[in-house]
Amino acid sequence: MPLLLKPDSLYICPVCSEPLAAQPSGKNYSCPKLHSFDCAKEGYLNLLPVQFKHSKEPGDNKHMMIARRLFLEHGFYEPMAKALTMMIDAHHLQTEAMQLLDLGCGEGYYSRAIDIFSQHSELINLHGLDIAKYAIAAAAKKQNKAKYVVASSNRLPYKENYFDFIVRVFAPSDADELNRVLKNSGYLLTVTPGPRHLWQLKEYIYTEVKEHAAESLIPSGFKTLSTQRISYKITPDTEQRMSLLQMTPFAWQVNESAQQILSDAACLEIETDFIITLFVKSDI
Ligand SMILES: C[S@@+](CC[C@H](N)C(=O)[O-])C[C@H]1O[C@@H](n2cnc3c(N)ncnc32)[C@H](O)[C@@H]1O
Ligand SMILES: [Zn+2]
Repeated sequence: MPLLLKPDSLYICPVCSEPLAAQPSGKNYSCPKLHSFDCAKEGYLNLLPVQFKHSKEPGDNKHMMIARRLFLEHGFYEPMAKALTMMIDAHHLQTEAMQLLDLGCGEGYYSRAIDIFSQHSELINLHGLDIAKYAIAAAAKKQNKAKYVVASSNRLPYKENYFDFIVRVFAPSDADELNRVLKNSGYLLTVTPGPRHLWQLKEYIYTEVKEHAAESLIPSGFKTLSTQRISYKITPDTEQRMSLLQMTPFAWQVNESAQQILSDAACLEIETDFIITLFVKSDI
């Protein structure tokens, strides 16, 4: 059957980098070289071929994804999500639709938050990408307005100069790929942990707690436009506190007895500390 390639196809084939187009059945995408990728029933597209997987379940596992959703849905990080959205709104030409990618989106909390809190959400075309299939399935199930894909941030399955904005919250990225898929003068908005992020939680885990660096690294090809530090205290209950632990990399470093002590703590006030940095793509 001849391929019906749309000239404006946003995806590229993760195997050969040729444009990918939706097939008339709507059930899969394929490239001119006939590499084919199925749309899952939840509505996402899996663009991570098995040869590019470095493990059976790359990225966050299902357990971490469920913990993250449980914790975030209680709104503990909502002030940061609102600040992030305000920055997007402030740098968006509000007469034109824009393409926004939530890179390393996990179960999609920030894509949903941007849609809810933006004053111009009708102009934002949301895209979410993560290497963890369970997370993307959960994200797609909850937000059919966004286009979700399973893929690696080291090999983005999008054509060049497609995005106006890339948002990256506590997730990895590759500077060359960011440069390739962002439009000239496109924006990159990152959220990284501030010096005292989750300090009291870390006191249960490490004998000596160290501060994070206060600045996030500037990816090559970008220049910093602004930095905002947001810190406030949260008091999650025991179940929420254990979800917070499970969604962080600290979970790997806590033995059972330390987990029990953390779980038994009567009331724990925990500092959050976020650095939100806005970069712009720049040749200089
Ligand atoms: C700390 S979580 C943050 C998730 C989400 N941004 C949030 O804050 O809720 C990091 C995410 O990066 C994803 N990730 C790790 N390596 C990746 C890669 N090479 N490409 C794409 N996503 C990756 C993980 O699966 C995980 O969902
Ligand atoms: Zn191909």
